[in-house]
Amino acid sequence: MEIKKGLEDVYVKETEITYIDGELGRLYYRGYSIYDLTEFSNFEETSYLILYGKLPNLSEYEEYVNKLKEERGLCDYLKEFLKNVNKRANPMDVLRTAVSVIGMDSDDTETLDKKIIKLIAKFPNIIAYYSRVRKGLEPVEPDPSLSHAGNFLYMVNGVKPSEDEVKAMDVAMILHIDHEMNASTFASLVVASTLSDLYSSIIAGISALKGPLHGGANYEALKMFKEIGDPDNVEKYILNRLSNKQRIMGFGHRIYKTYDPRARILKNYARLLAEKKGGEIKRLYEIASKVEEIGVKYLGPKGIYPNVDFYSSIVFYALGFEPEFFPTVFASARVVGWIAHIMEYIKDNKIIRPKAYYRGEIGKRYIPIESR
Ligand code: ACO
Repeated sequence: MEIKKGLEDVYVKETEITYIDGELGRLYYRGYSIYDLTEFSNFEETSYLILYGKLPNLSEYEEYVNKLKEERGLCDYLKEFLKNVNKRANPMDVLRTAVSVIGMDSDDTETLDKKIIKLIAKFPNIIAYYSRVRKGLEPVEPDPSLSHAGNFLYMVNGVKPSEDEVKAMDVAMILHIDHEMNASTFASLVVASTLSDLYSSIIAGISALKGPLHGGANYEALKMFKEIGDPDNVEKYILNRLSNKQRIMGFGHRIYKTYDPRARILKNYARLLAEKKGGEIKRLYEIASKVEEIGVKYLGPKGIYPNVDFYSSIVFYALGFEPEFFPTVFASARVVGWIAHIMEYIKDNKIIRPKAYYRGEIGKRYIPIESR
């Protein structure tokens, strides 16, 4: 009997969705390099590829894009909930509950395809709606003339985004769509494997993604850059943190023992946005670059490098998201990966039911409460 702590190196399924080469730092979706997809594709096309296994032709693409646009709206009940919910609530908790609300509206006649489109289409609106009402701003209705990424930014900021901003958002979303097996994908598979419904499975994914060791690390990374305050403080800060056995957030990965390619790509967009926006964004980018340099100097020899959350934090911040909302943006893309893995797993379903090795006593005598 061997316990694989953290299920490290345990394969739970075969997959044709995503391939990670952790040694060389490469990532492929359905066989296509992430470098090509982020350069030439967009969120809609790449999410179709992940879900349905092939790049869409023009009519398939248009049909899919239109279906997503049609499902962007939120029902009045959900809007009321988002308006009235505690303004200090964790946005991931709000997103999780909003998916519950959508799930409770679903009935037996709703097709799987409809559920998939609803989930992907509505995530940005839920996130944008809550982020605006939280700040006392009027929510912005979706604009069907805008792409998925462009409309997301429009609903958050209330102004039409620039081409650079839409491209950065598209790239960031593509890079978060899937990452083979990971804590949140596994959590959603565990629920799906019991033949529970899709909404419940996605709620499990959101719950797992919330943690600071997973999708919450982008928020923690930005907090760290702000805390450092100046590039000159970086080395002292990092050494202090490491000597106190604290982690550098946005560094390290179970699979990558070199640079996470997503971090490399996102760095380019963080730099672009820093140059365009200047001010606080530029300063945070300079701090992050220095943390990267010093972090790699001390942690690189142990195979610990920047991961996706490192520069996504700057990109999301530059695009107008509040730090508390970063994990929700991650979730708005990863929902595609969760669904794709669920569909793949369910085809040859087996309930996920591992074991725990019992180390306690057995045969103990029951003592009535008054005699204990
Ligand atoms: N900073 C400093 N040291 C680190 C870091 C880090 N970010 N990450 C790992 N280490 C060290 C650990 O202290 C440990 O050292 P030790 O062997 O001397 O005790 C060693 O590297 C191995 O760490 P584990 O936690 O055992 O590695 P694991 O594969 O379980 O964890 C994880 C991976 C959770 C991502 C880890 O690297 C981490 O905590 N990183 C910071 C949080 C983060 O950025 N998470 C986002 C990951 S990407 C994503 O989920 C989307």
